[in-house]
Amino acid sequence: MLKRLFRTKSLDAFDRDIADTSHGLKRVLGPIDLIALGIGAIIGAGIFATVGTAAAGDAVRLGAGPALILSFLVTGIACGFAALCYAEFAAMVPIAGSAYTYSYATLGELLAWIIGWDLIIEYAIGNVAVAISWSGYFRALLSGFGLEIPNWLATDFRSAYALASGVNPMSFSEKLQAFTAQNWSVFRSPEILQSAPQIFGYPLTVNLPAAAIVLALTVILVWGVKESARFNTGMVIVKLITLGFFVVVGVWYIKPENWTPFIPNGWAGVSAGAAIVFFAYIGFDAVSTTAEETRNPARDMPIGIIGSLLICTLIYVVVAAVITGIIPWNQLNVPDPLYMAFKMIGKDTSAGIVAFGSVVAHTAVLFVFQLGQPRIFFSMARDGLLPAKFAAVHPKFRTPHVATIITGVFVAVFAAFASLDEMVDLTNIGTLSAFVLVCAGIIVLRKKDPKRKRPFRCPWSPWIPLAGMFSCFYLMIELPWVTWRRFGIWLLVGMVIYLSYGLHRSKLNPHSPR
Ligand code: ALA
Repeated sequence: MLKRLFRTKSLDAFDRDIADTSHGLKRVLGPIDLIALGIGAIIGAGIFATVGTAAAGDAVRLGAGPALILSFLVTGIACGFAALCYAEFAAMVPIAGSAYTYSYATLGELLAWIIGWDLIIEYAIGNVAVAISWSGYFRALLSGFGLEIPNWLATDFRSAYALASGVNPMSFSEKLQAFTAQNWSVFRSPEILQSAPQIFGYPLTVNLPAAAIVLALTVILVWGVKESARFNTGMVIVKLITLGFFVVVGVWYIKPENWTPFIPNGWAGVSAGAAIVFFAYIGFDAVSTTAEETRNPARDMPIGIIGSLLICTLIYVVVAAVITGIIPWNQLNVPDPLYMAFKMIGKDTSAGIVAFGSVVAHTAVLFVFQLGQPRIFFSMARDGLLPAKFAAVHPKFRTPHVATIITGVFVAVFAAFASLDEMVDLTNIGTLSAFVLVCAGIIVLRKKDPKRKRPFRCPWSPWIPLAGMFSCFYLMIELPWVTWRRFGIWLLVGMVIYLSYGLHRSKLNPHSPR
């Protein structure tokens, strides 16, 4: 049994999969496309939304204050270690499945499945969070034109409740407690009751814009990846201009006294902030999911992964310096801090421009993750760990259309009902754990297969991979306990599916029924 759980798929078998071009994906992407895809995935809800909590803290965490700059640097360095490991793998194993594939070749089937399962958190749950944040900025943008979407039609229940009652959103367990205590008033806040339609006396709330944007992008993605990559490049340019605009306008309103004290809550605040802003960095690894659509993956994968991470780190540090210079850090705990910062200094038009850019930035992130998730499903299905339908490629568009549609519907449904903060922490823990395993994979493979051609080598191995493992694990520890619990449940569900399906259906199983 143990042998079956830790069986590995040889890298040569992966090579055969790619060579089998009859149902392969189109190779159309170059280095600039990849950097653009990386930036497209990285800059989004993280810098536009979660920096507020990271700087100011929330009910359970201390804020980093102006040392938000340090939080960004700390997380940027941790991601840098992981990026070097990703780059080595992506150049050596240019297969669509990213971290899932690498671990299948090195750490064995069980861990590969766990990583694939974690990546669903990163991509799909991450996108649920981004879609919800998109919806918030989209509403702000529309309201600038005098168009108001009612609360019940653009928020989840928890946020609608908070908006209506002015009370902090409840966690799921708090809701459960209220439910068991039959404290119905908690569920029936008067304002929501007045405006929302009701089902059996309970207000209906649904985040329609969040679901709609996800479904619209799904249609584009089924259509084709080259067209999609062009669309992405346009959005990336807009988001870079927007952040550039924020810095150039904002820099004139910096009051240096806002930067003192620089580290108001000590290292505790800096590292709590670092764990939150990790969300802002997620995405450089998504570049690797397009390896099978890249013209020269050995050269271009490292350029795409490391290049996009470096560019974004630089931008984040500058934006963090400007925003904490404009507004006292303890006033930043809002869901749209960049927009609010301009509003607070009376620059309404500039705030509107930032809101517009933010909507575009969120769209680009949604796009890359909706692109990446089906490609991970695609690889897992090709290996027999998921049903073969997930690996179907559209005869005309040559895109994994079934997996793309399943992802789209899953993310849209969750985005319609889930709340932002719950999703961000879960995304971070799932992604960090995948990073830890990828770094471990580099060390294992250097031992197991030292002679294999490595077009890009992570320097100072095993020290950089070890540093990656420890720093990512450290960030995981900084996340709240409730997130660990949810993550545990997620892993448990994954294990049940693996033991009842993948273990038997795996193509590495000689008795597999296929
Ligand atoms: N890094 C992505 C964002 O900030 C997930 O939205």
